[in-house]
Amino acid sequence: MSKTVAVIKGDGIGPEIMDATLRVLEALECGLEYEEIEAGLGALEKHGTLIPQASLDAIAKHGVALKGPLTTPVGKGFSSINVQLRRHFDLYANVRPAISFPGTRSRYEDIDLITVRENTEGAYLAEGQSLSEDGETALATIKVTRSGSERIVRYAFELARSKGRKKVTAVHKANIIKSSSGLFLEVAREVAKDYPEIEFQEMIVDNACMQLVMNPHQFDVVVTTNLFGDILSDLCAGLVGGLGLAPGANIGKEAAIFEAVHGSAPDIAGQKLANPCALLLAAADMLDHLGMIDKGTKIRTAIRAVLERDRARVTPDMGGSGTTDTFADALVEYCQAG
Ligand code: NAI
Ligand code: MG
Repeated sequence: MSKTVAVIKGDGIGPEIMDATLRVLEALECGLEYEEIEAGLGALEKHGTLIPQASLDAIAKHGVALKGPLTTPVGKGFSSINVQLRRHFDLYANVRPAISFPGTRSRYEDIDLITVRENTEGAYLAEGQSLSEDGETALATIKVTRSGSERIVRYAFELARSKGRKKVTAVHKANIIKSSSGLFLEVAREVAKDYPEIEFQEMIVDNACMQLVMNPHQFDVVVTTNLFGDILSDLCAGLVGGLGLAPGANIGKEAAIFEAVHGSAPDIAGQKLANPCALLLAAADMLDHLGMIDKGTKIRTAIRAVLERDRARVTPDMGGSGTTDTFADALVEYCQAG
């Protein structure tokens, strides 16, 4: 029986880059079925909610979703759909690969690292935030649990093992935030013992920022708590040339949602100028997740080849004079050529 993926086309440039992505997946003959589900501004107009229950049910049923960027209406009391999905499905691992591609504005070559960010606790709690009555003092709670730390660190090591990676770096601030960051580090050390073939390194977060910029090639898999992971993963996207090539996955026990890191880019929506690569790389990670590693690799190879040889057809953000469609045409041709 073929596998079905729930597809959220998204807002703004979402439908344009999703169409391009689905064309490439078709060309690869992945044998997947797609169920398009509603979410975002369209769903809000039609159903009065950004993510209808039927869409949540479809994601739960299929266990895997590919998601275009969604616009969160500002100042109308809506919480981001991304946060809602994360909570609903307990998507505890936010996995963001940073891989160098040719022709970007990056200062580095051959970067290939993955950040694994804890996605459900840390400093991102809706509860535990308060402002004193006189408005003088704000308090925010950081929550780190042994079980939450264990599952994210174990996820990082299992990922490293499955991808033949050599090293896992746990990033922390245990020297100052002794309780929460200390617990995370303690658990990371314990879990590391179960993976003797993988080098374990610990690094304090401020030093990690400097080391990432000075010598990014020393990193392989980086695992860290929510806030540090949020910041470090954007830093890593910057190392490889920015948002146009940055995919992300939100992974839990029951569901996994793959998406581009960038947003709905309202400034270029409808103009066929959007670079489809971040969503395509997310689709490649989805294929890896589904066990189709050769197909995932093929997508990355195709992007590399087109960026190297077919620059006239790539989108302006990559220095080309093409459109979303000509970029997709070039990728489809590469995939169909064998
Ligand atoms: P953005 O990522 O949409 O855009 C930032 C800049 O990057 C813009 O100049 C845009 O044109 C450019 N850009 C983004 N993706 C591109 C692509 N594929 N090809 C070429 N250029 C691209 O961030 P912004 O403007 O802060 O947010 C716009 C909307 O997106 C907001 O409503 C925000 O809430 C939402 N958003 C959604 C996310 C998601 O669903 N995962 C993530 C981030 C933002
Ligand atoms: Mg962020």
